[in-house]
Amino acid sequence: MEIKVTPAGPGCSKEKPKDESTLGFGDILSDHMFLMDYEVGKGWYHPRIEPYHDLAINPAAMALHYGQEIFEGLKAYYGADDEIYLFRPRDNFERLNHSARRICMPEVDVDLVMEGMKKLILLDKDWVPKSQGTSLYIRPTMLATEPHLGVRPARGYLFFIIVGPVGAYYKEGLNPIRIFVEDKYVRAAVGGTGETKTAGNYAASLLAAEEAKEKGFTQVLWLDAAERKYIEEVGTMNMFFVLGDEVITAPLNGSILPGITRDSVIRIVKDWGLKMTERSLSIDELIEAVTNGSLQEAFGTGTAAVISPVGQIAYKGEDYVVAGGKMGKLSQRLYNEIVGIQYAEKEDAYGWRERIT
Ligand SMILES: Cc1ncc(COP(=O)(O)O)c(C=O)c1O
Repeated sequence: MEIKVTPAGPGCSKEKPKDESTLGFGDILSDHMFLMDYEVGKGWYHPRIEPYHDLAINPAAMALHYGQEIFEGLKAYYGADDEIYLFRPRDNFERLNHSARRICMPEVDVDLVMEGMKKLILLDKDWVPKSQGTSLYIRPTMLATEPHLGVRPARGYLFFIIVGPVGAYYKEGLNPIRIFVEDKYVRAAVGGTGETKTAGNYAASLLAAEEAKEKGFTQVLWLDAAERKYIEEVGTMNMFFVLGDEVITAPLNGSILPGITRDSVIRIVKDWGLKMTERSLSIDELIEAVTNGSLQEAFGTGTAAVISPVGQIAYKGEDYVVAGGKMGKLSQRLYNEIVGIQYAEKEDAYGWRERIT
């Protein structure tokens, strides 16, 4: 299918950020967007790139009522060689299709959306920031547009991709974050939608995150919904713990998101010859490990911050300091390795980097 491109007219470009060192996350969006439409019986049609614009949505559009909305998050990086790269982008669209199947939405053609995304980034190339630690965040999104108020899967959808320059996700940057172990609210239960990137999962997490923020914490650490016993993940990150010589992360049992950074970390850690285990870790085992000194480090993994060290964990009114409140050795080494691959400063033995210029 041919992608029709309608560039913004001369003089219609938005103002670009002047100082890349102050870039935050998610407020600035570029000049163009990719869109395509879907109807049952017709499939996806009219793929196009247009100047960034508001959407006209019917108030009865089913996404607004029953939450058929899914999204992805990935980044484009200006490499050390002045070329632009993506990191494992096809995996994001495979995960989008997994999310789509779970909430009865149509899958996208991965080749077509890859082509649309690359064309969009090339058209908005000047929006890819160049300073260290910055990147172009990419947000593919799909929503049900059919106007209908009965509960059932919609028959019409819109898929779009918007992009914008970003800096650090957490104001802490690479400094260790403080996390609050949530034992009241739950994010997702096995059998639910926790392993998909659907908007409702994030809505369900907001209240706990707000309450944790009020208490001075960066993020919530979720426990399993059934027993509030096993560690799942943090707001927008998968979690890793180094206990003695074992690197542990929660298994993909259906309630946590299968992070692409998580998968990258697992492969690298194994290749470094370290003991990498995907197993359930209870909060009691973790607290005991902090108390007896066997917890070496804890870190979150995700596209936004890559590796985010945890310096403090609060559980049932007690504060526990992790790794002396500093970034651990493995966290730092993994950060250097993955960022090195993303920004083309290191050899990419895994074939994860995709050049688009
Ligand atoms: C709930 C949740 N867990 C984990 C992650 C990390 O996933 P990834 O490494 O693919 O960014 C994210 C971010 O997308 C997320 O939203």
